[in-house]
Amino acid sequence: MKILVTGGTGYIGSHTVVELQNSGYEVVIIDNLSNSIIEVNDNIEKITGVRPEFQNIDLCDSTALAEFFKKQNDISAVIHFAAFKAVGESVNFPLRYYHNNVTGMINLLNELVKKGIRDFVYSSSCTVYGEADKLPVTEESPVKKAESPYGFTKQIGEQMLWDLSAVSDLRSVILRYFNPTGAHDSSLIGELPVGIPNNLVPYITQTAIGKREMLTVNGNDYDTPDGTNIRDYIHVVDLAKAHVLALKRMLDRSSEENVEIFNLGTGRGNSVLEVITSFEKVTGLKLNYRIGTRRSGDVVSIYSDTKKANEILGWYAERDLNDMMLTSWNWQKHIGKD
Ligand code: UD1
Repeated sequence: MKILVTGGTGYIGSHTVVELQNSGYEVVIIDNLSNSIIEVNDNIEKITGVRPEFQNIDLCDSTALAEFFKKQNDISAVIHFAAFKAVGESVNFPLRYYHNNVTGMINLLNELVKKGIRDFVYSSSCTVYGEADKLPVTEESPVKKAESPYGFTKQIGEQMLWDLSAVSDLRSVILRYFNPTGAHDSSLIGELPVGIPNNLVPYITQTAIGKREMLTVNGNDYDTPDGTNIRDYIHVVDLAKAHVLALKRMLDRSSEENVEIFNLGTGRGNSVLEVITSFEKVTGLKLNYRIGTRRSGDVVSIYSDTKKANEILGWYAERDLNDMMLTSWNWQKHIGKD
């Protein structure tokens, strides 16, 4: 079966392409390389022995997208990753985010309806829960007003799927990721931030390797045991495997629902300081960091209730924080060495 993966050379996309190919699916990638490089495809080939078909297309280019779909007659399902994801940047450039994430998805869904492609896996985020009233968050926890344009684009994407599935044959699985980190064991693919990283783990590994001088911990006066924010870090390979299970469930028609939502996290919360401690433990390095002020828009604590994904998808996060830190570090050391 052939699966279209948008954003397939990106961080989560590339790991998912590997797991799809290892499970016997054929993959075609659409990516505009705005936040990834084509060499990722070479490395996917090195890992799996199969080179996915690659098309450099921007989802906002509706003409190019229509041309692509005209030539494709055997796509069974789509996994949609292609989107911008930097929270701070989205606050500064909201229209860029609405255009890229929303227009791109509308163009894609239009083509799927035209083509009669019915199965869709959507990359969403725990950001839709905002500051949750109760932890851990279940899929039934209320969706809160978005804190950023990025977060709102994820909510709009989810809503478009509900609305479209009510009037078409579209079926979708919405996957709400917690904090993806780690890298492939081969160190051939991983997160490749452009410029100064926004996210914690790439900032840690770049500091440790000497690319950044010092990590700033964004506040230690929160109402948590050590005062720093708590997040549910999830290994990207575990996450990638969940996509394959979600896809299988849809293709097997195992669900009665047109739209299903799953949280993807480990169910465990770790503070920023615990992440640093884990990194220092597995690498034997001392990280240069200081305590700074709070970052605006950060929620205090969030972690996932994993029961639904465990019971319905049969998916369990297998890799712990130490493993995430070790593979992230191995990847950081490997970057640029291919
Ligand atoms: C954010 C989004 C998430 C999105 C992800 C993708 C929210 C609530 N979460 O995750 O939906 O999918 O970005 O980019 O909008 N930290 C430091 N120092 C640093 C960097 C981070 O202390 O230099 C802290 C943060 O304040 C936070 C934790 O580390 O407490 C994790 O931050 P980060 O990796 O940026 O992820 P989120 O903000 O949780």
